[in-house]
Amino acid sequence: MYSCSSRDAAKSNSEETEPEMYEASEMSLLMRDMVEFSKAAKSALEQGKEIGSVPAHFYDLKKKKATRDEQEDEAFQAMADQYLKSLKGIDRGDSSAYYYNLSISNCKTCHSSYCGGPMAVISKLDYTE
Ligand code: HEC
Repeated sequence: MYSCSSRDAAKSNSEETEPEMYEASEMSLLMRDMVEFSKAAKSALEQGKEIGSVPAHFYDLKKKKATRDEQEDEAFQAMADQYLKSLKGIDRGDSSAYYYNLSISNCKTCHSSYCGGPMAVISKLDYTE
């Protein structure tokens, strides 16, 4: 689907991209769910609706195995904490737009150090009132 390398980033802009030939890591599968959740959350906000609860398995982010064992880095763990904090804000249900945008900025922070490929996808998730 999406790739971490910027070489493949242009390719992944096309809807027609063939499935990648490697097996997706636990982390990649979770990231794909995070993209879907974020898209749905953004469209809920645009329609003035509630975002709803964050899927419980997102809170396992720090334990998921990534392709290059990124989950073992202290820096990864610290940035994951920030993202999980934003999710808790969304789950509390007040100031959802604020916590939603904070969660997307947490995606960008981590992706600017770890995995630049999906940045174009992530940038489209920003919500503006
Ligand atoms: C704490 C760091 C971190 C945060 C926060 C984070 N990511 Fe990721 N993301 C990664 C890493 C590391 C990978 C590579 C996983 C692998 O290759 O195993 C990845 C992979 C991805 C991928 C590629 C998945 C695939 O198909 O291989 C997408 C898309 C993605 N992230 C989107 C997001 C979005 C959207 C958010 C916020 C809602 C987000 N990420 C938040 C670290 C992060």
